[in-house]
This record gives sequence, C-alpha cells and structure tokens, in this order.
Amino acid sequence: MTTTPADDVAVVILAAGQGTRFRSDTAKVLHGAAGRSLVGHVLEAVRPLQVGQVVVVVGHQADEVTADVEAAGFADLVTVTQQEQLGTGHAVQQAMPALAEGIRRVLVLPGDTPLLTSEALAELFTATEGAPAAMLTFELDDPTGYGRVVRGDDGGVDRIVEHRDANDAELAIREANAGMYLVDRQLLAGALDRLGDDNAQGELYLTDVVAILRGDDHLVVPVVVAESVVAGVNDRAQLAEAAVQLRRRHLDHLMREGGVTVMDPATTYLDVDVEVGRDTVLLPGTILERGTRVGERASVGPNTHLTACEVGDDATVHSSRGDDAVIGEGASVGPFSHLRTGTRLAPATKVGAYVETKNAVVGRGSKVPHLAYVGDATVGESVNLACGVITVNYDGKDKHHTTVEDGAFVGCDTMLVAPITIGAGAYTAAGSTLTDDVPAEALAIGRARQTNKDGWARGRR
Ligand code: UD1
Ligand code: CA
Repeated sequence: MTTTPADDVAVVILAAGQGTRFRSDTAKVLHGAAGRSLVGHVLEAVRPLQVGQVVVVVGHQADEVTADVEAAGFADLVTVTQQEQLGTGHAVQQAMPALAEGIRRVLVLPGDTPLLTSEALAELFTATEGAPAAMLTFELDDPTGYGRVVRGDDGGVDRIVEHRDANDAELAIREANAGMYLVDRQLLAGALDRLGDDNAQGELYLTDVVAILRGDDHLVVPVVVAESVVAGVNDRAQLAEAAVQLRRRHLDHLMREGGVTVMDPATTYLDVDVEVGRDTVLLPGTILERGTRVGERASVGPNTHLTACEVGDDATVHSSRGDDAVIGEGASVGPFSHLRTGTRLAPATKVGAYVETKNAVVGRGSKVPHLAYVGDATVGESVNLACGVITVNYDGKDKHHTTVEDGAFVGCDTMLVAPITIGAGAYTAAGSTLTDDVPAEALAIGRARQTNKDGWARGRR
C-alpha cells in the first residue's frame, strides 16, 4: 500500500465504553482477538497512515486501556478521559480540546472494529479530497444493530438512523454505518456543539453529525467497503468470528507471501504477530501465540501449542507444548513433550516422548529421548539422558541446580539429587540415586545390590 503522510489528520479512537453486551469484567476494547486487543488492531490499521496525532478516548478501565494503547508505541498518542459514557458524540466532544494546532481533519474510529485495514482507511482519505466529510459504509444481509445509512438524491449521506430509532422503512436499508468518519475539524467542532440526546438511548450520537452537516449543505461522501474490513464486535460471538477472520488473514499472508504450508487453516491458530519461515509445514491443531517465531523448513504439529517460543530452521515439534522456550536448529521435540519457561535447546538436540523441561539449557547434539524431567539444569553437548532420568531439583523448600557436562551418559532411571554435577564423559548406572558429584570419566553406581533367593517362590506356594 502506498500512503502519503497525513500530518494534518488526528485520529480519534473511541474506547471508553464498557461493552455491556460482552457481559465481562474487562472493558470490551481490551478483549483479545488473535493475540492483540481489539483497540490494538485498530491502532495497527492506523499505523501506516502516518497521521499527525492519535487521541484515544478512555473511560471504563481507563488505566488498563491507556497502558494497552501506549504499548503500541505511537509517538504522538494521547488519551483523554470520558468520565461518563454519554454516547459516541459525547466521546468525540471530549477529544476535541486535545487536538494539536496543525490538525485540519479528524478521523473518528470505533475501538471495537479489529478487522479494519489501512487500505479501507486509504479509500476514505481519497474520497475526502475536496469534500468536507466522508464515511465508510458497508452492505450486509442482516444489518441488525448497526446504524442505517439514509442516502440523498445526489448519492451523499443525508443522515444515519440507529437501529433502535429506525422505522420499518429505515430498518429495511441494508447499507450500514461503519462508524468511521473523516471530517473537517472546524465543521466537526461546530456540529458536535449542536448534538442533542433525543433518541432511544438518550445519548449524544456521533451519527447525528452527518445530518447536521447535511443540513448546512455540506456533502458527506459515502465510501462503500466490504463488511470483512469494518464489522464491529459487540458480543463474544462476534469476537470469535472476528478472531477467525484475523487469523485466516494472517495465515493467507503466510501461505501466499511467506511460502508456508498449512495443512488445514481451519484448525491452525496463529496470533497475528507470529512469524513462520519459508517451506515450514504447520499441521492441524497447531496453536502459535505471543510472538512465537518459527524458522524455515521446520515442521510444527499436529496438536502443538507454543507460546512466546522460538523454533529454529529444520526443527520438528510434534504434539507438544512450549512456553517461553527456544528450540534450536534441526532439533526434534515430541511427541508429547512439555517445554516450560526457560528451556533452551541447542541445535540438533532431541527431546522425546513424555519429557518435561523447565529452566533447562541443553547443549548441541544432546538427547533426552523419553520419560524424563529436566529442571533447573545445564546439560552440555552430546549428553545422553536416558529413559526415566529425573533431576531432583526441589527439596520441598528450595530449588537446586544440576549440571551434566559434555559427553556424559546418564543411565536409565537415574535420580540426580541436586545440587549435583556429573563430570564430562562420566557414566551413571541405571537405577542410581546420586547425591554426590561424579568426576569426569567415572562410573557412578548408587543403588542397592541385587540378591536372588533361590527357590523362594516354591516355598511360598
Ligand atoms: C456505533 C454507531 C452505529 C454504527 C456502529 C458501527 C453511534 C451512535 N452508533 O454503534 O451507527 O453502525 O457503531 O460499529 O455512534 N464509546 C465511547 N463512549 C461512549 C459510547 C461509546 O467511547 O459514550 C465507544 C465504545 O467503547 C466503542 C465505540 O465507541 O468502542 C462504539 O460504541 P458502541 O456502543 O459499540 O456503538 P454501536 O452500538 O456499535
Ligand atoms: Ca460497536
């Protein structure tokens, strides 16, 4: 998309409402879809436009909403508080005094339209070249809940009627108001001063600005865009639908532009900030969240859930869970591994079935093939932790560290009672419970010697 900087434009984002229809203790605009808050998605659509100023109107959970929008990192973002939520028109009234001097046009956006794209906004900009006001509209079979767009003979918008205030003829209109307007600053200020609350909700409706401008013979240009880029989210069913669309958009981008193979997009769930490299295959049931990055030629899934993880080129992660873990190049994880926070697997490592790791650094080429717990541990290169090895890291009060040096072979079912160090190249006998350090190149045996009682079974019978 090509954009010209719009220094004279301020974006006003309405994010003060509670979102009653969500039936939530959390303000609606803070609810997440595909890894980003609803209002965060709106901000991302605004970002490429390079507007002069962003004003976010906050109210419900003002502190939390402020923290969320500030995290988006816009240089010229301010928040204003709408103490009582007296309507969308009232919300914009609160924003007007905060506008910077050089602002000539105001782009008003709802905070609950996460599907919004920069391209749709660019169309709005094009339409206002020479016109005092423009707004985005869309057609849909069932516009229930949306304001209806009443057009004049000249094709401009005469007025907007809210669903609750509409008569039968108006309800039959299928063109809906997207709630996104680009208006000359002075005209907007004048119209806002004249808003009344004579409507079904007793609120100051921003939508009435249109009729006021029209009454003064100003043209309000409607720009029709697809529902898929402006649909609002008023309840959790719509939230789920929007999240599906956002994830699908991101997957389509990865497949078409990124050379990623996705076996079944419908059952592959990626946050919008997840990166996946070329020729990587995502199998069904894969959930990748919070900035997880997957390299090239990797294979992830089926049924794999990674949060804030890094997966290197050529790695395989099969039916596993990872949280804040690094999986090195060519590493193999799973099936059924659980990589917990602080797991760092070097390239060419193997973590196999039913292995749990936590705060564990595993060196290049090392293997933990089956049924093990590796917690608070530093494992060197080319180490083998055989089946059933457990780092006994917790004494009921404190956590202790285990170190296994390069080339060590820790036998099956070894309990490594931490703190403990297994020296380079050492062996431990299967079934050992080790409480003392093992020198390099030694064999450690820590188990009861076996006795066989001849004929014992016969005597018992
Ligand atoms: C609004 C429009 C409707 C349009 C729809 C598009 C009005 C009166 N109606 O309806 O024509 O079809 O959006 O999605 O504008 N907010 C505040 N302060 C308030 C009230 C709302 O900040 O006092 C914020 C909300 O947090 C929300 C946004 O404004 O982010 C829209 O409010 P909402 O109640 O969802 O409006 P709709 O009923 O969807
Ligand atoms: Ca809405």
